[in-house]
Amino acid sequence: MAEETGATNAQPWWAAESLWRKCAIWVTAVMVVVLMGLTFDTVRQITAGGERVPAYSVINNKVFYEYDAERGYQVPRIGGEEPLFGQALTEAEAEALVTKGKLTVQAKNCMNCHTLLGNGSYYAPDLTKAWLDPAWIHESQRESLMLAFLQDPPGNARTFGSGRRMPDLDITEEESRAIVAFLKWMATIDTNGFPRGFTPLEQEDES
Ligand code: HEC
Repeated sequence: MAEETGATNAQPWWAAESLWRKCAIWVTAVMVVVLMGLTFDTVRQITAGGERVPAYSVINNKVFYEYDAERGYQVPRIGGEEPLFGQALTEAEAEALVTKGKLTVQAKNCMNCHTLLGNGSYYAPDLTKAWLDPAWIHESQRESLMLAFLQDPPGNARTFGSGRRMPDLDITEEESRAIVAFLKWMATIDTNGFPRGFTPLEQEDES
């Protein structure tokens, strides 16, 4: 009996149950703090009006791409005034329009075929930089071509040699304008070079 008790007492310090209980409590506590910090940092980074995600009123400006030699890929740049549909909006109006576009994109389930910021399906082109897509031929025609395409995709199909066509999703003109605003705003988001290898529409010189 005495021998058995002796054996239990000889348990090495690192095998003590109380030590591991303390470790578990400390690791959990430290990780809670770290995750809280990361959550606040992420929210700060993805909030419109920040460094990487510009304010909604950016749709009043020219949006273009520029090669960043240091980072090794094209990054979005914001130029001078170039209001969407020729109409400058206040921050609140721009937010309302972009939000309507985002809600329409969700309601019509565009992600069923497209990816947005890399999320969604791979049937149709990624829409992250759709605003800068060469398919719109020239900056001067882009807005009207986008509106026409969204309201009648089969009638304006390009298919890019894939044979795939976007169906008519009963998008009204008002909804199309909001979607275009949403796409223009999304193109300004600094996505660390995503989508890779994207070639933007030929751009007028930024002066
Ligand atoms: C059933 C699949 C499908 C759905 C759903 C769909 N699309 Fe498409 N979309 C396509 C295909 C396929 C193409 C490429 C063919 C083409 O351009 O004619 C395309 C092309 C586009 C383009 C042109 C892309 C570019 O970069 O030039 C835009 C913009 C677009 N879709 C927006 C939308 C929006 C916004 C929605 C939701 C309201 C949507 N699509 C829903 C299949 C779909």
